[in-house]
Amino acid sequence: MKIIVKKDKDEASKIAAEMIKELLVSKESPTLGLATGSTPITLYQQLIEMNKKNEISFRNVKTVNLDEYIGLDGSHPQSYRFFMNENLFNHVDIDKSNTHVPNGNPSSLDEEAKNYEKIIDSLGHIDIQILGVGPNGHIGFNEPNTHLQLYTHVEDLTQTTIEANSRFFDSIDQVPKKAISMGIGSIFKAKKIIVLAFGKNKADAIKDLSHDEISTNLPVSILKLHPDVTLILDEDAASLL
Ligand code: GLP
Repeated sequence: MKIIVKKDKDEASKIAAEMIKELLVSKESPTLGLATGSTPITLYQQLIEMNKKNEISFRNVKTVNLDEYIGLDGSHPQSYRFFMNENLFNHVDIDKSNTHVPNGNPSSLDEEAKNYEKIIDSLGHIDIQILGVGPNGHIGFNEPNTHLQLYTHVEDLTQTTIEANSRFFDSIDQVPKKAISMGIGSIFKAKKIIVLAFGKNKADAIKDLSHDEISTNLPVSILKLHPDVTLILDEDAASLL
C-alpha cells in the first residue's frame, strides 16, 4: 500500500483528481467506483472544475457506488443517490443511466444485492475505486466484525457508525440501521484503489492500519492484500503515524 501525506484535504484530493484525469483522458470508456461521505466532496468539486474547463469529460464514463442506506429512496436528501446527484452527477456531462447506486428500497433486498453484483461485473473491471474510511476503519459499509462479506450484501450498521453519520440527520433516530453495501470481494474487483482519509477523527484508524497485520476488525486493513492501493492522507489523519 502506497501512502501519500499532503498538507490538507485540497492538496490530497488533487492527487486523486489527477489520477482520475489520467484515466479519463487515456481510456475510451472507463469505470469509476465512487464513494459518499464528507471525504470525497473536495475531490468531486475538483472533478467538476476540470469538467467545466473541458479538461475531462464524463460522457463515456460509467460509475458504480459502494453503498446505500436501506429504507431511503433516491429522492431522500440523505440517500447516497441524492448525494451523488448533488455533489457530482448534476454538475458534469455524465449520462445518469451510466451511474449506479444500490436501490435502498427494493421489493427484495436479496435480489437487489445479487443484481448489483451482476451490474458491477457487467461493467468489466472498475478502473479506479475511490474509498473513504469510517472512524472505525470500515470501508463502504463493511463494518468491523469477526468475518466480512465478499459481495454486495445487507449490513447492520454499528452504533459507532450510526453515531458518526447522525450529523447528517435531524436526529440519531432517523439514521437507518441497515445498509446495502459492496463487499470486500466486490471492492477487490477494482484494478486500482484510492483511499482518502482526512481529519483527526481518522487518525486512530490510520494508526491501526499502519501495523504490520490485517484484521476483519479493521476492514480497511484487508486492502493491504490488493496489489494497487494508494492511501492519501492529510496531516491530521497522519498525525499518529
Ligand atoms: C459512511 C460511508 C463510507 C464513508 C464513511 C466515512 O459510513 N458508508 O463509505 O467512507 O462514512 O464518512 P466521512 O467521509 O463523512 O468521514
